[in-house]
Amino acid sequence: MSIRLDKFLCESSDLTRSLACVAIRQGRVKVNGKTQRSSSLKIDEKNDQVLLNDLPMAGEIGPRYFMMNKPEGYICANTDEEHRVVFSLMQDEINLHKLHTVGRLDLDTTGLLFVTDDGQFSHVVASPKHHLEKTYRAWLAEPLIDNAEEQILAGILLKNESEKTKPGKLERISDTEVLITIGEGRYHQVKRMFAALGNRVEKLHRESIGKVKLDPLLHSGEYRALTPQEFTDLTG
Ligand code: URA
Repeated sequence: MSIRLDKFLCESSDLTRSLACVAIRQGRVKVNGKTQRSSSLKIDEKNDQVLLNDLPMAGEIGPRYFMMNKPEGYICANTDEEHRVVFSLMQDEINLHKLHTVGRLDLDTTGLLFVTDDGQFSHVVASPKHHLEKTYRAWLAEPLIDNAEEQILAGILLKNESEKTKPGKLERISDTEVLITIGEGRYHQVKRMFAALGNRVEKLHRESIGKVKLDPLLHSGEYRALTPQEFTDLTG
């Protein structure tokens, strides 16, 4: 399919249309090895090779769906002044600026994170209406109180909130290690739930969302594309 050079650059980089035109005028854009200075030039996006500042541009790709095993110390944002961002682990991907995380995990939380360029997908997966439960493994600073299961099932009133959390499930692995399943995604929800029970989460790891489990073959910081079955399990 043929497309104007400036439009192609907009789709494949983070340039606006007018900045794409400036880049073309400044001679920073090559098509099949030759500098082109006309924004209206028609190119074949499948077969022509376009370089911006000598870097290859890939045009419209996607939609893309990934799962990552998020490491500690990485932030779920596209840019950050202070911390490393999860997208820095995805340097093999092109058009990185088009990807976003589905919801967020805290800087120190690890485990299952979806990354996509499909806003509709993130809406479906993150929306409480779709009832996708998230299961976290939490390691606690103190032995858990006896009736924590009942309190979490009944809903917990978090600090500075007026509505209790929706019923959650708790499975006790030991006095200080639990699996907790919740259907919502309030700010720092798991940590605040245990704080309300007089405890503190020392480490938090997300193991699953809906039916989709973190692939045990993914080491910390690794990612892979979702399988068609996983995609259907999340959206179907
Ligand atoms: N709950 C939290 O407190 N932190 C997370 O990262 C996810 C859920």
